[in-house]
This record gives sequence, structure tokens and C-alpha cells, in this order.
Amino acid sequence: MKYGFFDDENKEYVITDPATPYPWINYLGNHDFFSLISNTSGGYSFYKDAKYRRLNRYRYNNTPTDDGGRYFYIKDGDTIWSPGWKPVKTSMDYYECRHGLGYTLIKGRKDNLEAEVLYFVPLHFTGEIQRVKLKNTGSEKKSFKLFSLIEWALWNAEDDMTNFQRNFNTGEVEIEDNVIYHKTEYRERRNHYAFHSVNHDHSGFDTDRESFMGLYNGFHEPKNVLNGRSSNSIAHGWSPIASHYFEIELKPGEEKTLIFILGYVELPEEKKWESKGIINKAPAREMLSMYDSDEKVDRAMMDLADYWNELLSKYQIESRDSKLNRMVNIWNQYQCMITFNMSRSASYFESGIGRGMGFRDSNQDLIGFVHQVPDRARQRIIDIASTQFLDGSCYHQYQPLTKKGNNAIGSGFNDDPLWLILGTTAYIKETGDFSILSESVPFDNDTSLSKSLFDHLTVSFDHVINNLGPHKLPLIGRADWNDCLNLNCFSKDPNESFQTTENKTEGSRAESLMIAGLFVVYGQEYVNLCKFLKKDDEANRAQSHVDEMRIAINKYGWDGEWFLRAYDFYGNKIGSNENEEGKIFIESNGWCSMALFDKEDKKVIKALDSVKKYLDCDYGIILNYPSFTKYYIELGEISTYPEGYKENGSVFCHNNPWIMIAESMIGRGDQAFDYYKKIAPAYIEDISDLHKTEPYVYAQMIAGKDAYKPGEAKNSWLTGTAAWNYYAVTQFILGIKPDYDGLIVDPCIPTSWEGYKVVRNFRGVVYEIEIKNPDKVSKGVKKIVFDGKNLESNKIPVVKRESKHKVIVTMGN
Ligand code: BGC
Ligand code: NOJ
Repeated sequence: MKYGFFDDENKEYVITDPATPYPWINYLGNHDFFSLISNTSGGYSFYKDAKYRRLNRYRYNNTPTDDGGRYFYIKDGDTIWSPGWKPVKTSMDYYECRHGLGYTLIKGRKDNLEAEVLYFVPLHFTGEIQRVKLKNTGSEKKSFKLFSLIEWALWNAEDDMTNFQRNFNTGEVEIEDNVIYHKTEYRERRNHYAFHSVNHDHSGFDTDRESFMGLYNGFHEPKNVLNGRSSNSIAHGWSPIASHYFEIELKPGEEKTLIFILGYVELPEEKKWESKGIINKAPAREMLSMYDSDEKVDRAMMDLADYWNELLSKYQIESRDSKLNRMVNIWNQYQCMITFNMSRSASYFESGIGRGMGFRDSNQDLIGFVHQVPDRARQRIIDIASTQFLDGSCYHQYQPLTKKGNNAIGSGFNDDPLWLILGTTAYIKETGDFSILSESVPFDNDTSLSKSLFDHLTVSFDHVINNLGPHKLPLIGRADWNDCLNLNCFSKDPNESFQTTENKTEGSRAESLMIAGLFVVYGQEYVNLCKFLKKDDEANRAQSHVDEMRIAINKYGWDGEWFLRAYDFYGNKIGSNENEEGKIFIESNGWCSMALFDKEDKKVIKALDSVKKYLDCDYGIILNYPSFTKYYIELGEISTYPEGYKENGSVFCHNNPWIMIAESMIGRGDQAFDYYKKIAPAYIEDISDLHKTEPYVYAQMIAGKDAYKPGEAKNSWLTGTAAWNYYAVTQFILGIKPDYDGLIVDPCIPTSWEGYKVVRNFRGVVYEIEIKNPDKVSKGVKKIVFDGKNLESNKIPVVKRESKHKVIVTMGN
């Protein structure tokens, strides 16, 4: 069952039933100021950091769900309704929510009154615009009342929901010219305030929650809305809010527009005050003047559309499959950019409090957005690398506001360093900018310890070879990519977190076959980079380690029908046919297959066949099989999850592309694309009621075949799934792959495809690539004609003769 439809022309998903199976959200904002917004206008905004600069309150895991947002109430006679349906939930004559690229447009109509609210964050602006258009669609005059509501968060989102003994005393506001200013703690150490403004005279306001709502009323029945008047209350402590109140009259056909702004202002210490106790409002006034008319708002929306069109234009496909087109051209790219902005911090499943930017996550995310914003990718790489330690290990996370490593989470995830090689080489291949390698980059944020970024790659590589176990396979450390395979944790105490508790790595023999495969793939990448840079000695040195790892995988990593997953603390096998549960895992089979790839290698084909046989299900490829049915102290968090959920046997969508990539390497295009379609949101729109999360973005996990409810997804939006699927489909299935000195064309597609076209903007040059498949093969390029001339290889050279080039590729054996 569906709850809306894709409007590809407008690049929107249109929700037509507000009671979606879960709040279906969108993100507003592009640089520093961000908002999350649901299809019923729930959500919150923050400046840079969702924990420390939260503007307004949102109630996670509340009942009803999705409470807190930017609400509008209309009181029309005795009827009270909200254009976004929530919080009042009065049924309307019409409802639609259009989630577009960086904006959300919600429209409601009841009793001949239409209310359309446009929410977006203009480029380079630290505020959210909320434009309310009211229209009398009937033939009689209409008089009604409008109330807005925002509940302020007292900045630190965690403190705000715990430290009540203090916080009920600190709230402060100011009001001037239809603007409500929130200035809690501004008197002391904060140099920032927020405001909620409107560009028309209001008829009243409220800033104290209890005065507006009534102590015992919910968001759906604020006392003052029920009574049809405001109290002009001034908050002193308790819970400050911003509510504007209007009495409006509209003639038949008449329209009225009100522009609200939820803004954020930061001031230097010496400019904080206008006079004693009165905040300096000049910057806020300037922000208000930027969007005080409909025309200015329209122009900002056009700029936003241009911005997104430009970002998406770098890779556009035209195929006969409209679902593929909409994933590749619009939604998958969009999700990659959002994930770049948020990492794993703020979604409807990530509270914005617990998590900073992950070292491995941010590096992997890069492969999904580097073509869109290469300059920002460059900065991101340097920020990430700056949190590395001299021995190549690194902080697992850093905080976006300070860009410093996060001590609370610590270090010791032994896969982490390798992802820096992926991130950096992906950046250079996209841009050709080798200069990044000579950037001087600190270790542990200490500039006195700076070395070149290239040196950071070297220590990343070396960290693996300096931490080998008894089988000469990489020691796993705290965990590898699978954060829940905690082989050195042995936790008995429910009050400790598997993720942060002290690990017993001393004397451990726990080795990871996933890191082994990863090392061969990105170690080889490092070797190739060294060769390209003519650092031959280093290339030879590194190559010998990569070769040794290949040998170790072959010798100690093969279980007979698939690759082992790991050895535990004591040196016992994990992910082996000998095990009762968790006999086979996806990660090591993906990475070792990529590592040992060779068309003749029987192991790779066998491993991928085993993946198909044991791990594939209707909803994607599950992580491990059979799922663990009890807690294994020597395995850790993985066995804490019920069967079929999260790291214990769900379709953990992040890793499915690893198999798609391996399948396309060995040329099985039908299989690769079949896996792709199983989890790509546009293809499963019809089962939205089961799938539950947004049909336009990937979720982290879909309950697997051993689960109570297979097919149900969780953790949508912020997941490495976005980047990996984008990478797999664009570079391995559609097969357009940037390299240091050109664009490789090497598709691996379903045999039924006749062809497709890709427009690829690569290093400022547009390549119009037409792929023809007359022989209905999956893989193999027979001929490439580049601007009318035959090419010798399947690599399109980097040329700047024209701004546009035509490439015709014929597949065949
Ligand atoms: C989750 C993992 C996540 C880890 C770190 C675990 O509870 O299952 O998916 O990577 O926490 O936040
Ligand atoms: C989510 C985390 O963000 C990521 O770092 C980890 O690799 C996966 N979960 C798998 O555990």
C-alpha cells in the first residue's frame, strides 16, 4: 500500500495521507543551519550541532509520536484545524505534503479555507522560513484566527530534557515589533539567541507555555486556541515558547501571506547588548529584511532549486526504468548529501545528542557526495584525518562544532584507518587534485605533530600490518565495521555500553576476515596510488604486505563454501559451518570476494553463491545466518538483538552493495541488479505499509527472514547505505568509474537491457555517454567511440578540448 507518489518532474515525493506508517521526514538547510521536518510539520532546527545548539523542542519517542514542531492552528468558528494535520488531527477536505530538495510544502484545506505552508532554509541563511498562504476558496467572507507555536529548547538538547531543577528557572525572552526573541543564558556565557518573527502585525502573542497551552492540555488543544485569544504572556523560567496570534478576514478568493522566520543569531562578546539586559537585535533585523516579501522568498526558492539542480547534474541517467532514474538522479544523491551534512547525528532515529561524526562513516559517506561538492569533501577529509593518532589509529568520532576527537567513544576500531584510503583516493579520482596529499594535517588535532596527508595514508596502511594476529590476519580491536561484533568485550554488566566499555585486547587472538579483505582492497588502492606517484619503493613494500594478506585469507580464511567471518578471543572460528548459529556472514564474503577477485577464482564464485543460498531473502541480503538466538558473551552486542533485527540477521542495507559490487566484478549483472532492486526504496514503494519508513530514502535496516516482521525497516536517512548503493549502482552496475587519469566505462547490467545514457560532468567537462547492448550481454565493452574516434581501452581520457564530449559505448564479447 502507498501513501503518496513520486512527482519526478518536480523532484518531490507527494504524501497524500498524513497518517503515514511512520513520520516521513525531510531535511532543510545546506550549510550551518538545519531542520528536520515531518509530513505533519513536526521536527526541530539546530545550528551546526544538534546537541549543543538546538533551537526548539522535539519529543523523541513520545506518544503520540512526532510531537513538537512548527505548528499552525486555525480557529474557524468552532472548528480548529492544522494544515499539517498534526497536532490537532481534525480531518480536512484536502491534504498534501510535498517533500522536495531542501524544502517541504504542506497544504491543507477545510471549509473553503486553504492554508499552504512552505518550509525551507535559504542558502547562506541561519534561519528557517515558514511562509503561510491563506486563501478563501469559497463564495462567502471568512473570519478566522491563526496561531503559531514553537517551543524553545534551552540550547543543550540533553540538558534540556534532564536538568529541570535548574532549567525551570533560566528561560528568558524579549518581544519587539512582532518578533519573539529567545535569550535563555544569553546573560551569561552564550553569545547566541534565536527568534521567531512574522512580517505582519500580530494581534497578540504568547511566550509562556503554560499560559498558552494550559498546564494539563496537549499540543492538540492549547487553551488559548480553544478560547480564541492570546494572553500576551512573558515567560520567566519554566518553558518559553513563541506563539503569534492573528485575527484574519478574507473576502471570497482573497489571499493573504504571512512570512515567519525561525532564526539564529551569534554575536561577538563586545556587541552582545543594545543596553543593559536588552539584546542587540541589529543582526536579527537584517535577517528579517532579507525575506520580508513574497518576491524575496520566491527568489530564494529559485536559488535553492538552482543549487540542487547543479549538485545533481554531475550524474544523470536516462534509462527505460523510471524507478532507477529517480533513485540515481534524485533521491539517492539527495540522501547522500543529507548524510554528508548530518553524518549519524540527527534523524528520527538518531536523537542528535549521542553521536558526532564517525571516522569510518564520514569516509564512506564521501563516496556518495564527492562528485557533488568536491571542495567540501576535501575539507571533510582533512578534518577527519586530523583526528588520527600517530600510529594510524584514530578517534572513532569527532564533534562537528569543535572538530576534535570524541574522548567518550575512544578509539581502537581496527577497520577505521583503512577507510581514509577509500575517502582520499575517491576524492582524487573525482577531482584530479593530488595536491591534497601534500596538505599538512595534524595528528590528534595537534598541529605540532602535523605531517602530510600522504603520510596519514601510510600510517593507516601500516596500522593494519602492525596489528596482526596469530594467523597473520588483522586483529579486530574493539570491533571492525560491524560495531556489534565485540570479540574482546565480555560484558556482564547491563549498565555498560558495548560501544564504550573497556575492551580486553591484551592477549586477544580475535582477528577479522572483513578487515583482511578490506586491507587487500584498499591496501592495493594505496599501492596503485604510490605507483601513480612514482613512489616505487613504497609501492613495492606495500605490495608485499597486500600479497601476504591474500595468502593469509586463502590459507586461514576459507571455510569450504564461504569465507569465515573472524576468529574470536580464544582463536575459535566465527562464521563457520562448524558454528551452530551465525554460520555465515555477509561482510567477510563481500570483502574477501572483492579482495580475491579473479574471474577464475572458484572461491569467489562459491562464496557469492553461498551468500545467495543462505543470506538472500525477499527483502534483501541478511547480515548473518542463522541469527543468534541467545546472548554469547564472547560475541557481544550482535547477540543481544532479537533474531532478524539490526546486526543480528537483518538486511543491514549498508553492506548489500558490497555483494552487488562483487557480483558485478564477476560479471553477474542480473544478480547484481536484482539485489539492487530489492532494497532500493523506489522499488518497494508499494509495500510502504510494511516497510514503514520513507519510500524515497534508504533505511539502515530491514527486518530479515528470521525476524518477527520481515520487511519492516528502521533507521531511515542517516546511513552509509546511501553512499554505498549510489557507488555500487553508478560505478559498478552502470559502470562509469572515475580514475586518476580518466573515466572508466565498465558496466555490468541485466542481460535484458538494451542500453541507457549517462550524462557525467567530470572535472568540469560534460561527457554524454550512450551505452548500447545489442548482444544482450551483462559485461564487456566491445567498442568505445569518443568524439567520433575509436578508443583503445575502456578509459575515457581527461580532455578539455570542448566543454561537451560524446561517447558511444557498445557492449559485447
Ligand atoms: C548499533 C550499531 C551502531 C553502534 C554505534 C549499536 O547499538 O547496533 O549499528 O553502529 O551502536 O552507535
Ligand atoms: C552504524 C554505524 O554508524 C557504523 O559505523 C557501523 O559500521 C554500522 N552501524 C554497523 O555496525
